Amino acid sequence: MKKSEFQNLQSPKGMHDILPQDQEWWDKVRKELQSITEYYHYRRIDPTLLERAEVFEKTLGETTDVVEKQMFVFTSRSGDRLALRPEATASIVRSYLQHGLSHLGQPLKLFYMGPMFRKEQPQAGRFRQFHQVGFEILGGDDDPVYDAQIILTMHRLLERLKIKDISLKVNSIGCRICRPNYRKKLIEYYKNPSFKLCRDCKRRLRENPLRLLDCKNETCQPYKAEAPISLDSLCVYCSKHLKNTLEFLDELHIPYQIDHQLVRGLDYYSRTVFEFFTEAAGPDGQKYDFALGGGGRYDYLIEMFGGRPAGAVGGALGVERVLEVMKALRVNVSSRSKKTVFFIHIGETAKKKSLSLIESLREEGVTVIESLGKDSLGAQLRAADKEGSDYALIFGQKEAFEESVIIRDLRNSVQETVPLKKMIKEVKKRLK
Ligand code: HAM
Repeated sequence: MKKSEFQNLQSPKGMHDILPQDQEWWDKVRKELQSITEYYHYRRIDPTLLERAEVFEKTLGETTDVVEKQMFVFTSRSGDRLALRPEATASIVRSYLQHGLSHLGQPLKLFYMGPMFRKEQPQAGRFRQFHQVGFEILGGDDDPVYDAQIILTMHRLLERLKIKDISLKVNSIGCRICRPNYRKKLIEYYKNPSFKLCRDCKRRLRENPLRLLDCKNETCQPYKAEAPISLDSLCVYCSKHLKNTLEFLDELHIPYQIDHQLVRGLDYYSRTVFEFFTEAAGPDGQKYDFALGGGGRYDYLIEMFGGRPAGAVGGALGVERVLEVMKALRVNVSSRSKKTVFFIHIGETAKKKSLSLIESLREEGVTVIESLGKDSLGAQLRAADKEGSDYALIFGQKEAFEESVIIRDLRNSVQETVPLKKMIKEVKKRLK
């Protein structure tokens, strides 16, 4: 293959490899996720990456951007229409029903971390393959304590990842009983003949009026600002639900703002919806205008799949976005608390014995780094330096003959020759 042909084989637009040098950042997220989910007792679920397209079409809403424009859908050879998952909540509900997970203790607290796929125009914080960590509490009733628990978990994870100036926006979009009323009010308001709505909003007015509040187009902003707010149309039950959710947040000292225009981009939500942002400044002092995460209650989703009605609430954070902020804030993610030794061999005889010596150290829990494929002393020392090892073990012809090894402190170059028999003890003493 020619070099020019390889140009066409680069990773697809908006999709990125996670390279070795980035893994430390991802490990930090994995580690804190593991710890927080043990702390709050969530159980892991890994739903499939491919689903039948209807799993999303029937639940996220046919007229939402995600379903209408952003899904990667293809037909398999056997004629199945499959989609790469654009999100995981619908998949989790599908799995919950398919495997009878309602028979496990209820409500079921689940979490996940994995890739999602949306065919969006790539830009800052927006990719075609991105990752979410998400939390769902399924099969409980609609107690607002669960809404607060989901928000608490996400807030704590952001804190543990050292995200500064976290801001939380909350709204309620009502239930089956009161939302139609609100829809009607919005339609009446937006039908004003003097409004010059953008093309998307004209369509939203016909197909999905709540989404009018999500319009980012400049010309529509003044209409949005004056639009009726959902809180004025909530039924008594939904008002109380929101009030109780907010009271829990007050008790937890989690600050929030009510955002009347927060409606979220997926249709399965009812009552509580929320989004997390950061007010921290980026490297050029700029504000991040993307949400770090979002979620809400989805009490009708299980029913939409044919299950018995059951309450559910959840939320997900976008990992790439969180990492972008962490990197700008120079969060320390180094997990290298353990000291390491670098094994250096000189000569054929020493090299032959090296592997088994290294094994004996590793079996004792010592982290040994080596580059046995390199024979030059200089190259091995440079590798040790690159790795930032604390000690070098130097094993040459003379040492192999005398059954000894040199332990060199790489920070001050002080070195000592010790008998091989004592190597493990001497190394462990230094690594303490
Ligand atoms: P979402 O708001 O669509 O919600 O996505 C959650 C988060 O994923 C966003 O706040 C953002 O951080 C990240 N995200 C979304 N799209 C992209 C993209 N193209 N590139 C990079 N990051 C992105 C959901 O997906 C719901 N399933 C959340 C949920 C869970 N609701 C209830 N349970």
